[in-house]
Amino acid sequence: MTLTAPEPSSAELAARGAARIAWIRSRMPLLAAARTEFARTRPFAGHRIGMSLHLEPKTAVLLETLEAGGAEIVATGNHGSTQDDVVAHLRGAGMTVHGRRDDTLDEHHANLAKVLDATPDILLDNGADLAAGIVARGAAARILGGTEETTSGGDRLRGELAGRIPFPVVVINDSLLKAIGENKHAVGQSVVESFMRLTNLMVPGRRFVVAGYGWCGRGVAHYLRQLGGKVAVVEVDELKAFEAALDGFRVAPMLDLADWGEVFITATGRPGVLGAEFFARVADGAVLANCGHFPWEIDVPALMAGAAEVTRLDEAIERVALPGGRHVVLLAGGRMMNLAGREPKGNSLESMDLGFLLQSLSLERVATAAGSLPAGAQPVPDDIDREIARRMLRAMGADR
Ligand code: NAI
Repeated sequence: MTLTAPEPSSAELAARGAARIAWIRSRMPLLAAARTEFARTRPFAGHRIGMSLHLEPKTAVLLETLEAGGAEIVATGNHGSTQDDVVAHLRGAGMTVHGRRDDTLDEHHANLAKVLDATPDILLDNGADLAAGIVARGAAARILGGTEETTSGGDRLRGELAGRIPFPVVVINDSLLKAIGENKHAVGQSVVESFMRLTNLMVPGRRFVVAGYGWCGRGVAHYLRQLGGKVAVVEVDELKAFEAALDGFRVAPMLDLADWGEVFITATGRPGVLGAEFFARVADGAVLANCGHFPWEIDVPALMAGAAEVTRLDEAIERVALPGGRHVVLLAGGRMMNLAGREPKGNSLESMDLGFLLQSLSLERVATAAGSLPAGAQPVPDDIDREIARRMLRAMGADR
């Protein structure tokens, strides 16, 4: 006889979501202050915001903040990362939220369509899915403007969608404040935390190779070293490679480090950083992990095609036996390691408080002064970056 725990009721799920959100809300002082301000100024009154963003507790606090400013919200998550207890709580609080953790890709696409069917006039996007959908529908004229959370969405807006977006889209990732506060320091901290949480292995004295010395890679390399790791960096941009060398890291091409590294972490946003040639040379027992947005930095199909045997050792750990007796350990199937495994925390509360205040003030600018912004993808206005930096310094007590 198999005993399975009964599914929690939606009331139980909502209560669990509410409790988790309460802790997070209590540690997001910037958004708390914005809620008070928005409740007075009501910048979103009469606007409907269509959203597609990871549905987790920090996002719930962002949605509450926008709602306090008068927004009507229609939301869905990103594929695979939706937290059902958070959704249950938001629905209980009267928001229209589509999606659940186990949605198939087709169901996820149907959820995106439902958000657009609700005819939002402002978009809060992650990966440019909503912007692409509105262009495909020929409905871009009814959009006032929006925001885009990621680098990858910004690339899409400036690539395949260039010239087809008649409304302003503020790309949150193009903010220097976010690059410092989130990509460098929060990703650095959470990737190291995730490596320890997923594997329970030691950092001090271990040999790490970090691919990419952009904002995320810099943070990962620095935090690993601060815990005593020996860190090498692989970087294709000579200026950043130079910076890594002067920062004291070993710098070399990936293939030269294949039998030196014990743990390889990709942070480039580009495909095939670890590919067949690397797998042919990598040392026995090496751990492979990725923190970039797309699950393509480690060429998992090539790895699996050459594998003699694949054994799942834990929820986020696979042992991949290679021909000739070597093996590698793949974390999270090559997907973002800091959102993987049991109880993933993602990036720190403070970094998301900062990042979501960037979202809130950029959306406020769109709602109240879209005409002052050019059409298409653009960075966060400099005055917003500087205003938030000042607020963050005050919140940290660092202005004293
Ligand atoms: P970035 O553009 O600052 O840095 C990427 C670096 O990788 C660049 O310096 C580039 O020259 C280098 N690079 C490109 N191809 C390479 C290769 N084949 N080998 C070695 N280096 C190579 O970008 P950023 O902000 O560091 O983001 C990196 C990725 O991380 C993106 O996919 C981004 O979406 C993602 N990201 C992940 C987060 C997380 O929580 N896991 C949070 C924020 C961003």
